[in-house]
Amino acid sequence: MSGGEREPKIVVVGSTMIDLVAFADRLPGPGETLVGTRFLQGFGGKGANQAVAAARFGASVAMVNAVGDDPNGRAILDNLAAQGVTTDDVAIARGTSGVATIWVDGAGMNRIIVIPGTNALVAPDLAAAAVRRIRPAVVLGQFEIPQATTSAAFLAAREVGATTILNPAPGALIDAALVAVTDWLVPNETEFALIGGRGVAVRPRTGSVAWIPAPTVQAVDTTGAGDAFVGAFAVGLALGWPAGAAATLGCAVASDSVTRPGTQSSYPDRAAAARFLADVVGTVPVGRPTPSTARQGHDR
Ligand code: RIB
Repeated sequence: MSGGEREPKIVVVGSTMIDLVAFADRLPGPGETLVGTRFLQGFGGKGANQAVAAARFGASVAMVNAVGDDPNGRAILDNLAAQGVTTDDVAIARGTSGVATIWVDGAGMNRIIVIPGTNALVAPDLAAAAVRRIRPAVVLGQFEIPQATTSAAFLAAREVGATTILNPAPGALIDAALVAVTDWLVPNETEFALIGGRGVAVRPRTGSVAWIPAPTVQAVDTTGAGDAFVGAFAVGLALGWPAGAAATLGCAVASDSVTRPGTQSSYPDRAAAARFLADVVGTVPVGRPTPSTARQGHDR
């Protein structure tokens, strides 16, 4: 990869799902059945999406999760491996793997119901042990697994000096214990989609808010755009970039992803991801990080 340190390590403690996506010009009202325009089945889950997005940039990404002992679980594991995401810390639990039913309307906006299944069984000790063993630069979490597990992983991240990023989606109240060990809070996808036309606001704990403008695109499907942002943002921070540069990369990749249908299937391939990375390196002052700037590069 270009733009700094080789293969920054990222651990994603989060969900995996099979996405069942129905497209229609408009969405049905209560009690209504209507004929849609397209169906696709793909691999999703906010955690897996973020892991895959980061891996497309050449990052070394490990997933912590629990799939079910069903055919979907095997397929999810195979997909992660094919995407270059390490699955050593993905447990196989008795039960049903996570499934997301997704409706996308003619404007590309989505509505999602997730059935977490075995995502609810990701254990805190498994997550913490993975972070301690891997010693990543960045740990990512979302809200499709228990918050106690994410807290345990983030606490371990503190021990090994890793930066933590929490994507609080689907929206829920956040445990105080989790807030205490979170460095970066990235709003959920609905909020991202709402502000997506204007760009992204980066607000460090100290200092002023920076606005990162978003490119103008024709949205086909916004599903997974927030995850593309988070995965790319994590890569930038893991490279030791300032948060503004990491958000610029995230914004470019997320905006691009809405022009294609599906979630992981809408992300840039490795060649396109390398071009996004090179574009940011060419436009913002990010250099090859030294160990000290790699630590200072994110504003906690
Ligand atoms: O953020 C998009 C994701 O949310 C989908 O892939 C779906 O699985 C749900 O988890």
